[in-house]
Amino acid sequence: MVRAPPGPDRPGQVRVYTTNPGKVREIRALLEPRGIRVAWSRRRLVEIQGDSLEEVARSKLNSVSPRPGELSLVEDSGLFIHSLGGFPGVYSAYAYRTLGLAGVLRLVRGRDRSATFRCVVGVRQGPEVLLARGAVTGSLARTARGTLGFGFDPIFIPRGCSESFAEMPADVKNRYSHRGRAFRALLRALPAAFP
Ligand code: IMP
Repeated sequence: MVRAPPGPDRPGQVRVYTTNPGKVREIRALLEPRGIRVAWSRRRLVEIQGDSLEEVARSKLNSVSPRPGELSLVEDSGLFIHSLGGFPGVYSAYAYRTLGLAGVLRLVRGRDRSATFRCVVGVRQGPEVLLARGAVTGSLARTARGTLGFGFDPIFIPRGCSESFAEMPADVKNRYSHRGRAFRALLRALPAAFP
């Protein structure tokens, strides 16, 4: 793989704060081919129960202490099921822990199964903060399928695809996913935000 060297419009290193190794795998596949090194702090940041992914991402960013020459990066994602008024949305981690995949599938039995995954990624350098968003719409599978990925991947099929996210390797999932879209938007906005 050809790696572009860091340039004036690209940071050399970002530090990702998450406890989720699946997210780190996907973030590396998105940033490293662009010549951006990804350092990982597996530290659990204090997470508020906010009303929006943006609010949660901003509060996580405020709780990190950026190191000189490094961008701090956090992201917050959620699964918004249309027929449930957007639930679990910002409560996705809680729904995953308490209901599990089978519990979420039970909630949509007999209902419209369309859903949107949303991601907000935020970076901070000193006091400056930049947020970018990405979303993908699809439908919930009837049963869990696939063993790759994490979280709700086995039950989410992006529109236009026949495979669930858990049946796609990280680089293929990134082409369609909320995270892939949010990171591509972030990379487009970075040069103007941190010139
Ligand atoms: P958080 O962004 O780590 O708070 O994620 C909220 C919940 O959504 C967690 O249970 C994650 O596992 C799940 N989730 C976030 N992103 C994805 C994804 O790309 N695929 C599947 N589940 C996800």
